[in-house]
Amino acid sequence: MTETVRDERDSQVGRAIVEDDAELESYYDDLAGLETGALWTVANDIEPWEPTPSSAPTIWRNKELRPQVMRSLDLVSPEKAGRRVVYLRNPKRKDVSACCGWLFSGIQVMRPGEKTSAHKHAASALRFIMEGAGGYTVVDGHKITFGARDFVITPNGTWHDHGVLENGEVSMWQDGLDIPLTNALEANFYEVHPDLYQKPNYAENDSPGTYGAPGLLPAKETWDKPYSPLMKYTWEETYEGLQAYGKVSDGSPYDGLIMRYSNPHTGGHVMQTMGAHMQMLRGGEATKAHRHTGNVIYHVAKGSGHSVIGGVRFDWTEKDIFCVPAWMWHEHANASDSEDACLFSFNDFPVMEKLGYYREEAFEENGGHQEVTGAG
Ligand SMILES: [Fe+2]
Ligand SMILES: [Fe+2]
Repeated sequence: MTETVRDERDSQVGRAIVEDDAELESYYDDLAGLETGALWTVANDIEPWEPTPSSAPTIWRNKELRPQVMRSLDLVSPEKAGRRVVYLRNPKRKDVSACCGWLFSGIQVMRPGEKTSAHKHAASALRFIMEGAGGYTVVDGHKITFGARDFVITPNGTWHDHGVLENGEVSMWQDGLDIPLTNALEANFYEVHPDLYQKPNYAENDSPGTYGAPGLLPAKETWDKPYSPLMKYTWEETYEGLQAYGKVSDGSPYDGLIMRYSNPHTGGHVMQTMGAHMQMLRGGEATKAHRHTGNVIYHVAKGSGHSVIGGVRFDWTEKDIFCVPAWMWHEHANASDSEDACLFSFNDFPVMEKLGYYREEAFEENGGHQEVTGAG
């Protein structure tokens, strides 16, 4: 639905169907002079029949992006840039620097021996590690080391800085934040740490050491924060979990084997505003299409395949990133008949759920598959 093509449903009683004339136009002018307006002139636009996503389904291919991210190593220092990040800009969300919907994403790169200054913000952050060795993050004094395909969180309001050990390798990871959402809600704050770098206050990797064993919590649990005390979810354990799940479950017709990274303390989402999943498409698997509210940004953790999003086919392979805007039909397929493919994804589902906006629908026609009308 656009401003020029009217929806036929808008002609019915129950919608705004006032026919304007000269007297009404003059009335509208008088209202405008008082910073007011007649609701019936805008009602059909501001109350759509269903969500009208503002983002375009888009793919960022690692093959094209990686050389440009590597170029930034020689162009700016982390000290001057704050964070050396190439952000993913949705062609229809340039105004808010969003990757999809109200979610921000970018690729951060660091050399061995480099570190960012510590800061905190009201927006939540997460990272999916793409490559390198010796990378670490310090979150509120908890130092956490990470490797490729690990998932790490930096909850809202926590001090955090990152670095790569001297003996490490150039490291790259995808950042995901809800900066556009926090700004839209006019609730963002930012602070630079008074000491510029945090001193770790705990044993290294105390968070995964304390909370990383499946189904086990310290007997005298004292965690009282509204986000997960587990700040690193390793690839090995995640992949093992999916393989084990696949032995006992058929999974979802829309997502294959999909598991949610969860707060071990509550079983809920890892953070208050963003959630994350890892899903596995088994050899030969092609899911059926569905759509739901909430925006999702995918990162191909393993394998290759394609997704059809809003009728457009996007072929992907390892380390490619693509997005599925709110309420857009989408389905995924593994390109291999024998090897599995894994998709990491993060989303704004916690917000949708808390506000009562989460809604999901299956694509019923054509055996559950969209007609492919183009390639992206
Ligand atoms: Fe940050
Ligand atoms: Fe979905």
